[in-house]
Amino acid sequence: MGSEPHIVLGIESSCDETAVALVTSDRRILAQRIASQEAEHAPYGGVVPEIAARAHAERLAPMLEGVMDDAGLELSDLDAIAATAGPGLIGGVMVGLVSAKALAMAADKPLMAINHLEGHALSPRLADEALDYPYLLLLVSGGHCQILNVEGVGEYRRLATTIDDALGEAFDKTAKILGLGFPGGPAVEELACDGDPNAVPLPRPMKGSAEPHFSFAGLKSAVLRAVESGEHKPADIAASFQQAAVDCLIDRLEKALSENGASPSLVVAGGVAANQTIRAALEQLAESHAMRFVAPPLALCTDNAAMIAWAGCERIAAQAGELQSDPLDFKARPRWPLDPEAESVRGAGVKA
Ligand code: KG4
Ligand code: ZN
Repeated sequence: MGSEPHIVLGIESSCDETAVALVTSDRRILAQRIASQEAEHAPYGGVVPEIAARAHAERLAPMLEGVMDDAGLELSDLDAIAATAGPGLIGGVMVGLVSAKALAMAADKPLMAINHLEGHALSPRLADEALDYPYLLLLVSGGHCQILNVEGVGEYRRLATTIDDALGEAFDKTAKILGLGFPGGPAVEELACDGDPNAVPLPRPMKGSAEPHFSFAGLKSAVLRAVESGEHKPADIAASFQQAAVDCLIDRLEKALSENGASPSLVVAGGVAANQTIRAALEQLAESHAMRFVAPPLALCTDNAAMIAWAGCERIAAQAGELQSDPLDFKARPRWPLDPEAESVRGAGVKA
């Protein structure tokens, strides 16, 4: 191997995106393919696990062949095969993990069972070479809303999580209540552009609380009441909801900073990190604390396989070139907290 960069194949299938990517340890994405299942799930207003698992099973093999062809590589050229092994919808996770095991066995390459959240947590370093450990990470997706101190590969200290809904879930539910499409985040953001963020009085759950955590269930219920009252324009409700979410995020991050001390960088990752209003507010917060603000490009925020392959590259680097395989009987994990030491919080961690 010498000083040649490593090449890792990544597979992601934990929710409703089937994704495959080839990434090098010197931060090049050699090829990637992603197939969204939005059309399949849209009629149900949410992801249907059985439909998701079947769609992953149908699409994965041709996509794997596709990326290898795109990059002009053979299995023997790879250094490792990385796949999401959880947390997520178990049927889909199994499809990706079993495929990775088969490839690892056939090609006699190490298998890397990757935590999906670790993929999100490390993805900013794929896009930004200058981002060093430690960093304060806001991880906001459809299943999670956490503040973590990322101290190194495999070293994640959770400072806060949600006691009920994840923020992406709150965006999706708000979209449903407003009769917008699925997934709801981008639709709410677009509608909010035409609205007044101060028009509708909505709660900021946990704001000022002595606990470090988030809560979004009450905000969603308040959105439902605002819609049912018939007193507000949908755009005003969307904008006010988004503003309430921003206020909650900033308040909780301020608390994390005041209790855990300064960090050189503030980083945001996960699907909700695609939201421009949230990004702008975080950038301001970082500036006021003299922190660097890092947000990955949009395509790396939502679910993708490059982040899974990259997590594999990071693991190889942390092992100082000693490529260790995870066991081929590694089980798919519907739940898999990034910080196993973090105490459980009421109602939280359903998917973590
Ligand atoms: O990370 P992700 O792709 O999948 C999970 O691991 O959950 O995140 C998906 C979530 C969905 O809830 C979606 O509505 C939300 O991210 N999202 C957004 C935006 N784009 C995606 N939320 C707010 N604004 C957006 N622009
Ligand atoms: Zn995700």
